[in-house]
Amino acid sequence: MEFEGQVILVTGAGRGIGKAIASAFAREKARVVLNDLCSQDELDKVAAELSEFEGQCMAIRADVSRSDQVREMIARIERTFQRLDILVNNAGIIRRGTIETVTEEEWDLVLQVNLKGTFNCCKAVVDIMKRQQRGKMINVSSVAGKIGDITSAPGYGSSKAAIDALTKTLARQLAQYNINVNAVAPHAIATEMSAQWSEKKRQAIIAAIPLQRLGTPEDVAAAVLFLASEKANFITGEILDVNGGFVMD
Ligand SMILES: NC(=O)c1ccc[n+]([C@@H]2O[C@H](COP(=O)([O-])OP(=O)(O)OC[C@H]3O[C@@H](n4cnc5c(N)ncnc54)[C@H](O)[C@@H]3O)[C@@H](O)[C@H]2O)c1
Repeated sequence: MEFEGQVILVTGAGRGIGKAIASAFAREKARVVLNDLCSQDELDKVAAELSEFEGQCMAIRADVSRSDQVREMIARIERTFQRLDILVNNAGIIRRGTIETVTEEEWDLVLQVNLKGTFNCCKAVVDIMKRQQRGKMINVSSVAGKIGDITSAPGYGSSKAAIDALTKTLARQLAQYNINVNAVAPHAIATEMSAQWSEKKRQAIIAAIPLQRLGTPEDVAAAVLFLASEKANFITGEILDVNGGFVMD
């Protein structure tokens, strides 16, 4: 098992896509650190569930938008495992509205969590990965970063486009240390984030997807595990579509 013993941090792992990614690594007997903003109890329950796969799971509640909390989380991981092989920046939020209705606070919050949270985590782990001369950073972006958000969320697509640019910038900068930086760009994945759609909207979204279904969290997890694997060692700065053919670029 390729990931056995590797130390992997997945942010926003309390539910949805993050939980599926953490679960996929746990099945590979990796040592998975689950981060989320939900209660420590809820996160401990998820960690206990995933520990059944014999990997060692650890749950750390922290707000990725807060650099002090992120630094503390990474220091704890370093003290416990003395290494960090893979960082998956998955934590993300959406606030829907139009340019007229979205508030400044909502705009700031989405950018703080999605973009600054990704920046905070990359910054906090880079010294460990440089020392190891090895590491993989994988950001969970969105098709909205490429084409704008189709569900009217001004800050969301903007934050994801900036994540794509950050991914490519770090990929160039960190390649010399054997650190690969990539992203996945999902579309229409069946989670609580997408459960807010009306049935009419859901059907319209499915009709526009060539593969004619919503994606699953496991579809995204499979793409993340590929980018984290040795098979992807010569891939960096890539934004990998996981969208059923909705956008082909
Ligand atoms: N569901 C989709 O259709 C879809 C499509 C494209 C991209 N994405 C992206 O995938 C990622 C996961 O989405 P999801 O659908 O699983 O969403 P979700 O809302 O089900 O899960 C997101 C998780 O992130 C956590 N979180 C939120 N703010 C946080 C913070 N500040 N610090 C730590 N954790 C925090 C939440 O508590 C939650 O557990 C997000 O980045 C999202 O933008 C989702």
